[in-house]
Amino acid sequence: MRVRGRVRPPGDKSITHRALLLGALATGPVEVRGALAAHDTRAMAAALRKLGAQISAVRSGRSVRLTGTRWRDPASTLHCGNSGTAARLLLGALAGQPIRARLTGDRSLRGRPMARVTDPLRLMGARISGGDTLPLTIEGRKLTALDYRAPVASAQLKSALLLAGLVSGVAVRVEEPWTSRDHTERFLTSLGYDIRCVGTAVEFTPGPHLRRPPAFSLDVPGDPSSAAFFVACGVLADAGDLLIEDVGVNPTRTGFLDVLSRMGALVTREREREVGGEPVADLRVAPAPLHGTEVLAGEVPRLVDEVPILAVVASRAEGTTVFREVGELRVKESNRLALLAANLRAVGAAAEVDGEDLYVEGGGSRGGSAPSPRGRVETAGDHRMAMSFAVLGTLSKADVTLSEKASPAVSYPAFFRDLALVTNGVG
Ligand code: S3P
Repeated sequence: MRVRGRVRPPGDKSITHRALLLGALATGPVEVRGALAAHDTRAMAAALRKLGAQISAVRSGRSVRLTGTRWRDPASTLHCGNSGTAARLLLGALAGQPIRARLTGDRSLRGRPMARVTDPLRLMGARISGGDTLPLTIEGRKLTALDYRAPVASAQLKSALLLAGLVSGVAVRVEEPWTSRDHTERFLTSLGYDIRCVGTAVEFTPGPHLRRPPAFSLDVPGDPSSAAFFVACGVLADAGDLLIEDVGVNPTRTGFLDVLSRMGALVTREREREVGGEPVADLRVAPAPLHGTEVLAGEVPRLVDEVPILAVVASRAEGTTVFREVGELRVKESNRLALLAANLRAVGAAAEVDGEDLYVEGGGSRGGSAPSPRGRVETAGDHRMAMSFAVLGTLSKADVTLSEKASPAVSYPAFFRDLALVTNGVG
């Protein structure tokens, strides 16, 4: 397969979620340019509208305009669709406001753990009825301060607690085992809130600043997790090169670039700049022979969404790649750990889960003498599983069938169009 041209990944999903939520609370007009227009962020916008915010349609290529408000009881259940970020961030922001709301999600989201958020929120005094999973009913109220040691590195958990502190005007300190993505910290700092990061802990101190954020306008960079599929494409290609434009390169998100470079990949950063308080660059990628590596537990939060595509890349490298302590993948949009290993085997690669670790046996550099990937992939409706194996399917002589192709609309509606453009050389 030959790659050519350029591609711009859609807006960052994490930053878009935060911008919508904070915009829905803001005391002045908000404009978000480059927001991700996809199922996940539309679910967030729809929930926030039910809480009283005015939000223009979330459409690709259009700015989103918001008029925030003091939230009110929604007339019906807040449906978070497939989005763990929407559910967990909303739980945090609702817990500290006098609102009664019921939250639910699709089948996948209803199976994902919520206790990691509801337990500490309850410690702050939140009233939440229901079990460990959605649906949950929350009755928000004035909360008390929290100093919490999180059992998992999770930006959703950390952000939910910071938002609870913000809306309730109480101090919150969260210490993580490893630092997860820090978009909320950067965003709140840019809005004038007192946020301090000390080691793997973050501290929010309420001040004279409002419990509702001020007006803001924001440019959302391209999502590095979406860019990762094209980085992989460029690296695995037989020839050509690819420019991936406007990619967020926040160091808490770029673990996959570090791992790929250890494997021998050639990815260079061009036009490095800062957009909306976040580092951004264009990435130029060229094919290279790859070898296996060990991905350490401390690196995982910086590449947690990229394990599927990295595992696919590892299956075409020389030698073994091991991903340490990736048990958290079991509670993503699907059980990614089990499904990844099964799907890699389904297309002829060797992969296995051992405890919390994932081992992927490379078929030799660029597949080497290993057979071309062939087989049927079960995506379980997981967008990143579908996109990862779609990339594998672009390799020369590959014959990979996906069980469905609708799920990428969760985070990257134009994915198949963009993939066809750069692999057919019309970028
Ligand atoms: C996200 C954090 C990560 C990531 C998810 C988005 C966020 O989840 O997997 O896609 O926007 O905060 P965890 O915080 O649960 O690890």
